[in-house]
Amino acid sequence: MERLKLRYYPDPILRDIAEPVTVFDNELRELADAMVDVMTEERGIGLAAPQIGLSKRIIVALQMRDTEDSEAPPLVLVNPKVVASSKDTWSFEEGCLSIPGVTATVIRAMTVEVEFQDVEGNRHRLTAVDMFARILLHEIDHLNGRLFIDYLSAANKSLIKTKLKALADNPPS
Ligand code: CO
Repeated sequence: MERLKLRYYPDPILRDIAEPVTVFDNELRELADAMVDVMTEERGIGLAAPQIGLSKRIIVALQMRDTEDSEAPPLVLVNPKVVASSKDTWSFEEGCLSIPGVTATVIRAMTVEVEFQDVEGNRHRLTAVDMFARILLHEIDHLNGRLFIDYLSAANKSLIKTKLKALADNPPS
């Protein structure tokens, strides 16, 4: 598979609702592997298919715990869906490979339950806490056209306005 190119804010594909995956074939497995490669090369901790220009409901995520790297391999989630989230929340400074140079504190649920399919189409359900939960929520947001900057208050958004404009005027090559 040719090298996948990252899409950057304000690329309109980042605002689309991604399509469900219905075919679980070799192409899907190759795509998932390629997404893991891009995430690893870019030193990301998660990646959603729209970020590489594909409006499909696929994400990859590091299974992090307490902001530490995990020994577990990156997880591929196809058609992921949040089925429950805790009332407990926590704040953490997030970034996004599609919005380089911008970070902001986002409040998210501490624990989430997510249903998804693997690349073979088998159904799974997992419970994720703290960092892993945050990564899943951030990436699933991508599938719904939502970016972490959307959560900021008007005051906090104005703080990053200049950086967003610079990114729009001068996209990374
Ligand atoms: Co992101």
